[in-house]
Amino acid sequence: MSKFKRTIMVTGGAGFIGSHLIRFFVKKYPDYKIVNVDKLTYAGNLENLTDIEKESNYEFVKADIVDAELMQKLFDEYKFDSVIHLAAESHVDRSITNPMEFIYTNIVGTANLLNAAKFHWKDNPEGKLFYHVSTDEVYGSLGETGFFLETTSYDPRSPYSASKASSDHLVRAYHHTFGLPIKISNCSNNYGSFQFPEKLIPLFIHNIKNNKPLPVYGKGENIRDWLWVNDHASAIDEIFHNGKMGETYNIGGHNEWTNIDLIKLLCKIMDEKLGRESGTSEKLISYVKDRAGHDLRYAIDSTKLQNDLGWKPSLQFEEGLRKTVGWYLDSSEWLNRVTSGAYQEYYEDQYEKR
Ligand code: NAD
Ligand code: TYD
Repeated sequence: MSKFKRTIMVTGGAGFIGSHLIRFFVKKYPDYKIVNVDKLTYAGNLENLTDIEKESNYEFVKADIVDAELMQKLFDEYKFDSVIHLAAESHVDRSITNPMEFIYTNIVGTANLLNAAKFHWKDNPEGKLFYHVSTDEVYGSLGETGFFLETTSYDPRSPYSASKASSDHLVRAYHHTFGLPIKISNCSNNYGSFQFPEKLIPLFIHNIKNNKPLPVYGKGENIRDWLWVNDHASAIDEIFHNGKMGETYNIGGHNEWTNIDLIKLLCKIMDEKLGRESGTSEKLISYVKDRAGHDLRYAIDSTKLQNDLGWKPSLQFEEGLRKTVGWYLDSSEWLNRVTSGAYQEYYEDQYEKR
């Protein structure tokens, strides 16, 4: 008998959101065992978790979710009663240059995990849960008005969002067809510490710091709805424990920004923090060719989550952005190791040489 109340497989735990979620769960639930299953792609960085890696309720396993046999073996070995599935290829621009990685990891990988859970839980589904973490991008692109609801029809338009939509459909299909206990959440754009600097906010912080151009796609008029990553983690915690089985919850903080307004705010904060004359960083803005198929607007309606489960975001955006900028400026070693690729040596030092 395990001494732990639950044994949870968290996939993609070395990534941006996964590392925040793992830190949150490891600290809040010492009686849960958290097993981080991650392939360590370019986006997976164990240095995101150094503060909790020695905790007795945490373990890391390097594994690729595309390996079906290995997933079955991990279920045999650890007897997981829950999965929180975050592992994914997650960057829209990469999905345009190399869609196949997205199809393997996001679709085939999810199917492998569903099959492993189905096989191991079929005789005793009580207390089991497959929690699938997804994105608002599955709903497509909004015009100037309206919001994504849980009932909005899917209309994915990039290889990334199409692969995530496909995985959401598979998760629901395993619930309806095989009775697999599942929950799904679809969240808006996250920001915060430990995000790989190829996504908008950390990339632009890095470029401003180093006086490099800020490549704004198109006219910068596209709109995203931003949520602090820790608020995403607290929403997952709420849904994991109190959400209804088989249901979907949208997560977002009603915080829409055009890219250009967000970038100008970021420039202002950076000027202040770096002691530069006001307006210095804005001069780095450089309008470049638009992303192919660039979705105009995402905006989440999270009323269901707020009303049914009482969740709400904890931080106002400007405060969160200031905190985030402060973290990247204070963590120049982390940023340098990520941008130079040196972080990938950490795994070898910590794990392969043992
Ligand atoms: P990320 O790219 O930072 O991290 C992904 C992690 O998955 C990495 O640690 C990577 O090594 C791992 N991974 C990739 N392929 C794998 C494979 N085949 N096997 C095992 N591990 C693999 O992504 P993120 O931004 O933290 O996103 C996490 C999840 O949240 C994704 O499912 C994403 O679709 C979803 N999501 C992200 C956002 C956002 O704004 N970043 C918003 C809503 C939903
Ligand atoms: P991103 O962080 O890639 O998230 P997503 O595409 O999943 O929303 O991009 C956020 C927005 O910023 C999106 O509209 C594309 C835009 N963008 C730029 O203008 N320049 C850039 O260099 C990047 C990475 C993104």
